[in-house]
Amino acid sequence: MCGIVGYNGKGNNTLRILIDGLKALEYRGYDSAGVAYKNNEINIVKSVGKINELEQKIDFDIDTCMGIGHTRWATHGEVNLTNSHPHHVGDVTIVHNGIIENFNEIKKELMNNGYKFNTTTDTEIACGLIDYYYKECNDIKEALVKFMDKVKGSYALGVMTKDSDTIYSVRKDSPLIIAKGENGNFIASDTIAVSKYADSVMYLEENIIAEITNDSITLFDKDLKEVESNFKLIDKSVDNTDKCGYDHYMLKEIHEQPKVFRDTVSPYLENGIDSLIDTMPDFTKYNRIDIVACGSAYHTGLVGKSLIEEFADVPVNVEVASEYRYKKNFYDDKTLVIVVSQSGETADTLAALRKAKDDNIDTLAIVNVEGSTMAREADVLLKIKAGREIAVATTKAYSAQVAMLSLIALNLANAKGNIDKEEIKEILKDIKELPVKIENTILNSDYTNIAEAIYKNDNIFFIGRGIDYALSMEGSLKLKEISYINSQAYAAGELKHGTISLIEEGTPVIGILTEEDLILKTISNIEEVKSRGAVTIGVTNSDINSKFDYKIEVPKVHKLLQPLLTVVPLQLISYEVAKLRECSIDQPKNLAKSVTVE
Ligand code: G6P
Repeated sequence: MCGIVGYNGKGNNTLRILIDGLKALEYRGYDSAGVAYKNNEINIVKSVGKINELEQKIDFDIDTCMGIGHTRWATHGEVNLTNSHPHHVGDVTIVHNGIIENFNEIKKELMNNGYKFNTTTDTEIACGLIDYYYKECNDIKEALVKFMDKVKGSYALGVMTKDSDTIYSVRKDSPLIIAKGENGNFIASDTIAVSKYADSVMYLEENIIAEITNDSITLFDKDLKEVESNFKLIDKSVDNTDKCGYDHYMLKEIHEQPKVFRDTVSPYLENGIDSLIDTMPDFTKYNRIDIVACGSAYHTGLVGKSLIEEFADVPVNVEVASEYRYKKNFYDDKTLVIVVSQSGETADTLAALRKAKDDNIDTLAIVNVEGSTMAREADVLLKIKAGREIAVATTKAYSAQVAMLSLIALNLANAKGNIDKEEIKEILKDIKELPVKIENTILNSDYTNIAEAIYKNDNIFFIGRGIDYALSMEGSLKLKEISYINSQAYAAGELKHGTISLIEEGTPVIGILTEEDLILKTISNIEEVKSRGAVTIGVTNSDINSKFDYKIEVPKVHKLLQPLLTVVPLQLISYEVAKLRECSIDQPKNLAKSVTVE
């Protein structure tokens, strides 16, 4: 979380470059923002709220060739102007993404040395520590080495000093890229922040110091010996940030799902099932799979579990990464650990991946962002092709992750001889037709009338059984995230064990009913809430007639693919509800898209 950007160049549009960069990084947090730039001395401009607020405070005519910027997702210290970055102590100014865990201890030591602090942030302490070492050794690179040895936690830093025209960067457990362009050099949390101005990029490794002047980038290891850099051309096609006429990125991204599905699965199926076998690892050597992820990616794991267990007969354990990384794990050399992550940078998921690797367990990453840390560190990468997802609430990346897990289930089921040729033919036919069916599901139903019926409620429930329960969880999270309505997902049969007491006249209950063998069971649960006054909404692939107040029928396809259709109405109901409630759909309050702190 938090986004940082820095520029050192020859042009004098530094402030425009920094603001453009911060706007592109707003998905990482939008509590406050700020920039520091140099013209004779270091000047800082900050504001609370989104980048637009900061932009209004900036005089773009100011002549400056170097600066750093920050958009904040608050961790330490409330959201206010004082706590906003950049922070400045003594001769040093920094922007920081991450958490300095031992900042209290460092703060005491610095205060004993005469330092005074104005904010409640860990970043101001980090800044003070760098200043302390800088004064001690009179060399900023040496000061950064000492800083790296002293601090615990995570950081990606952009550092400027009073006396030089150079930006320095170091990082640990938080992402940071360095980039070059015709008119200068850059640092950023993500390539998207600089792709408009830069041509080539590299990921900064840990324990390396980057020294960025207006015409050179030099990397040093901790012994201050120069190390090689390895720049690659930026693929600008993935960074299309145009809304293409849609009101919100979320809606645009929902509409992109047919293409994303096609792009994600087709490289594996060029020659049908045979190419699936050739392009995927051999999963048959594993007798257990652990899927580890956070948020919606965790929900894709639950869908994957249902499919892999049913079709491939392999037990799957799905866990949220923040728990998995600290608990006793029962994996062995016949276990595959799959991490699922859109960004490939989520701190807890990355830590879970590293834990499994440290224990010599085979790892596989399902990731969207090319070159992200998880993509680089996992033993095997299965890249989804969702393209750049900008709305904080995921839609197309969720579907692409589900699609990849469906392919894994299909591959394994086929390898174990669990499905016959006829069924494979049916699945491949459904895969071919799915993009059109997703498109029809997006376009053909009226989600606004359902939204109208439920948007004023304070509590909404989602219920389902089996895979529909996993989808209920995603539907409920989507609604909470963007509409701020309290919603809960329940296994349909479990509701009566307590939670049904919350159902009253008019409470919306959204039932998901696509599991053929379980539909009648869930119908009974729908009847139970209906007779207690609930407004019932059915999302189903069956033509069964029940007492739904509203019904959305999605096409019926093979179970391996059904979730990719069922999730669409859930996304669109949330979207329409949030719209009626006039919420900030693409940037919901308190959230960030990339969560790089624990
Ligand atoms: C945040 C986002 C969610 C996302 C989760 C995991 O909470 O708001 O949409 O599902 O992080 O992110 P990842 O990048 O690992 O998929």
